[in-house]
Formats: sequence, structure tokens, C-alpha cells
Amino acid sequence: MIIWLFMKHLTGIKDLSTNEVEEILARAKELKSSARLPKTLKDRLIITIFFENSTRTRSSFEVAAKRLGASVVSLDVSKSSTSKGETLFDTAANLDAMEPDAIVVRHKDSGVPKMLSNYISCPLLNAGDGSHAHPSQALLDLFTIKEHYGFGEIEGKKIAIVGDIKNSRVANSNIELLTKFGLEVILVAPPHFMPNTDRFQKRYSVKEVVDEVDIIMALRTQTERHKNQIYASLADYAQNFCITKELLGKRDILLLHPGPVNRNVDIADELMTDKRCKVLTQVNNGVYIRMAILEKLILESS
Ligand code: NCD
Repeated sequence: MIIWLFMKHLTGIKDLSTNEVEEILARAKELKSSARLPKTLKDRLIITIFFENSTRTRSSFEVAAKRLGASVVSLDVSKSSTSKGETLFDTAANLDAMEPDAIVVRHKDSGVPKMLSNYISCPLLNAGDGSHAHPSQALLDLFTIKEHYGFGEIEGKKIAIVGDIKNSRVANSNIELLTKFGLEVILVAPPHFMPNTDRFQKRYSVKEVVDEVDIIMALRTQTERHKNQIYASLADYAQNFCITKELLGKRDILLLHPGPVNRNVDIADELMTDKRCKVLTQVNNGVYIRMAILEKLILESS
């Protein structure tokens, strides 16, 4: 087996320099405004392999690939029950033998995409691993923030990340990326969802931050990662952490959420259609960001 030590992968934000992030954002912007998308990935084959369920991310990668002219083969292994170590190695070797141009992987365990990247000879893109990383989500969130501010200065903007931060790969990758771009992060969560860090300000209800933040990123409560239910009920949790119209008032706050939204737990129903809530803009931007990532990784490695 050939091991490509210098193959460019995207397993986490650390794989990209600030310049490369800028390059991806600029390309996504260009693609979003182009009347006709270029078929830059014509004759390329992309394999998506999701060991964990996904609605948005998987379709977003697939739509992005197809819009640029690539073909996509999807392996639905979310229900696979075979033993881990061996299966993963075999899966990687088998996929690699089909000579794809890129492989997109999601797995419930942290570190799996990074491990697999050592055994394949094309770029590997992490579409979310355990509570570890979700780099393409963070890139599309940064893009959405920049776009909201007219692609001007965002340094110094304050963002509250709200909810199950400790178990969230979206939070992890965003914290890494947004701080790199000068945003000030405030963590808002109940004690059991608060990560053990002294790097950031911490608050224990959304009320405490609404007057000082420019952006709120609400997260989904990651019940599948909890060993036992920690809060009394979701309604109880929502009292302090659900983003409601009443809470925002008339404040000019950009509201983000990676989806899927637990309505009335993460964000109140009535806010979902409010113009400050950019959940669907994030989904739309995600396609262009993933186009830019796929292009960069595939075209630069061939
Ligand atoms: C997130 C994920 O799967 O990490 N969703 C997504 O990719 N858009 C967030 C979540 O599931 O809470």
C-alpha cells in the first residue's frame, strides 16, 4: 500500500493555514455569485462514507460535488455492526482500491478520519467525528458571519456559543477557527455542558449575554453523547438556553445554528422565520464552502 505523507486532508481546522481559509472563503464567494458553475470536478469521483446519520452535511457535500461535475458514490454504513478497528482499516483499503479523487467521512468516534487518512491515497475530508471536529461546518459558519457583515471587518465581534458545548464538534471547530479570525468567544452553558477551560468567559444563561454579543450560535443538545440524562427535562434546560424572540427583543443579533434545530429547546419556533435567524443561509452557504474545499483539495493533489 502506498502511504502519501504529504497528501492534503481536512481532518480539522489545524490542517488549514489562515491564508488557505481566506482562499476557501474567497472561492466560495465567487462560486456563490457566479451565474453558471464551472465543471471543475468533471470526471472526478468522490466517495462519501457516513458511519453516523446526517441530513445536511452529507447532502451538502454531494450536491457540491455534483454541481461541479463530479460523480458521487455514497456508502451508507450508519447501520453497520461489524467490529471497529478491522472494519475501518478494511473499509479504507477497499475504498482506496477504487481510486476515488476524494473521500468524505463521518464517524461517531473522534479521531477516525485522521486515522483513516493514513491509509488512503486521495484527500480525506472529515464531515464530523464524535465530539472532536467538524471543519467544513466551522468554515461555512465563518463565511456566513463574514457575509452578514458585508465581507468587512469582523475582528472584535463577540459571539456567544450556547448549549451543549462540551459534546459539540461544531463548537470545537468554531472556537478554533473564529478565534483565529479575531472573534471574541463567550461560552454559555449549564455547568454540565461547559468545557473545562479558562481560555474564555463563561456564562450560565443567555440572558446574561444578550446585551453584549453581536452573534449567537445555538447548538443542539447532543443527547446521543450523554451517558445519562443530566438535566431534569428539555423544557427545564430551555428556560435558560432557548433563544426566544422575547429574549432578543429588537437587538441586532445574528443568530446561527448548525442544525438540526430542536425547536423550542435550542431556538423558539417564532424565531426560525425571523430575519436575524440565518439557519437556512448557513445551509445554502455550506454547499459553496464544500465546493471550494473539494476543489482545493482535489485539484491541488493531482
Ligand atoms: C451537526 C453535526 O452533526 O455535528 N450538524 C451538522 O453537521 N450540520 C450538529 C448536530 O448534530 O448537533
